[in-house]
Amino acid sequence: DAGKGEYDHYMRKEIHSQPTSLANTIEGRVTDGEIELAEFPAGTFADVDDVQFVACGTSYHAAMYGEWLLREADVRTAVHRASEYESSAGPIDERTLVVAVTQSGETADTLAAVRSANARGARTVAVTNVVGSTAARETDDALYIRAGPEIGVAATKTFSSQSVTLALLTQRIAADIPDAQPIDDLDAMLETLSDLPEQVETVVETSRAADLAERYLESRAFFFIGRGLGHAVALEGALKFKEITYEHAEGFTAGELKHGPLALVTEATPVFSVFTGGGDEAVQTNATEAQSRGAPIVTVAPEDHPAVESGDAHLSIPDTHPVWAGLLANVQLQLLSYHAANELGRPIDKPRNLAKSVTVE
Ligand code: G6P
Repeated sequence: DAGKGEYDHYMRKEIHSQPTSLANTIEGRVTDGEIELAEFPAGTFADVDDVQFVACGTSYHAAMYGEWLLREADVRTAVHRASEYESSAGPIDERTLVVAVTQSGETADTLAAVRSANARGARTVAVTNVVGSTAARETDDALYIRAGPEIGVAATKTFSSQSVTLALLTQRIAADIPDAQPIDDLDAMLETLSDLPEQVETVVETSRAADLAERYLESRAFFFIGRGLGHAVALEGALKFKEITYEHAEGFTAGELKHGPLALVTEATPVFSVFTGGGDEAVQTNATEAQSRGAPIVTVAPEDHPAVESGDAHLSIPDTHPVWAGLLANVQLQLLSYHAANELGRPIDKPRNLAKSVTVE
């Protein structure tokens, strides 16, 4: 298939195209250290009291990113599984902003949540990849992630672009809401963002994920842990892994490991531990708990991170701001899933039972 170019699978091509897709996402949106979203000039969100995110699947994990960043900014916020929104939404009114995160803009559960929010008077925004999609049309405003078409069923480049778009959107929102505070080191966060495409390139070019996929292929299950933004990455890492390898994979917030999942931990369950530069000591403690039960620990962290030495294997990420570190870690986990699925001979671009866009509730 010519569309794949030099790659065997669309997923691989899409992982490798992230330096470009991210550059497109960012282009023109940060100027002289300031966020500029043409869709949302300063003051747009001045009358917003609280922000709810609704999404499914991978987009839900990107939405977790948005929620975490807004909470850091002292904005009242929550993230909802779109399929549960009808009962989970709680009180909403015209001062509620509902952000629907959906790559395709066609996911039935997410559209149902948007319709419910619209009917209840909330203001709605779609963060989507597809211009003119149903979500873009049925919300008050759309913010495009500009990742380019994604063919592989398992979302990769769109997760990265969604997360970056949401990082910018949340800071725009926080700047507008009177009692909110953009995150402390916003300047550093925006400055390092321009390095992200190149750092993703470094990860893609130097990753040892193929070796690790092979090393742990016979495992009984694959666990992913992290805290804060690293939790979203752990969940996304596990989702990707189960989608395309058909192996049992689960993501947990690192602190929950000891409250149940630890019973599953053995020498045959590698634990991929995501270090983003926030709550890392606690993640390391939790990883050690699993290691002392025999589990191999794979640290996903910068080269000089203190956790690397005690881990059994390492996937390296360049040094950056904690908000972007998780996205680099996620690229390593995308490659891990890809190589494991490839070794297992799975139909990577079209996993059984899954669809790119699920248009039934
Ligand atoms: C399907 C896809 C997932 C995707 C989810 C949400 O389940 O297989 O990869 O994350 O839908 O899709 P959306 O288009 O709303 O982001």
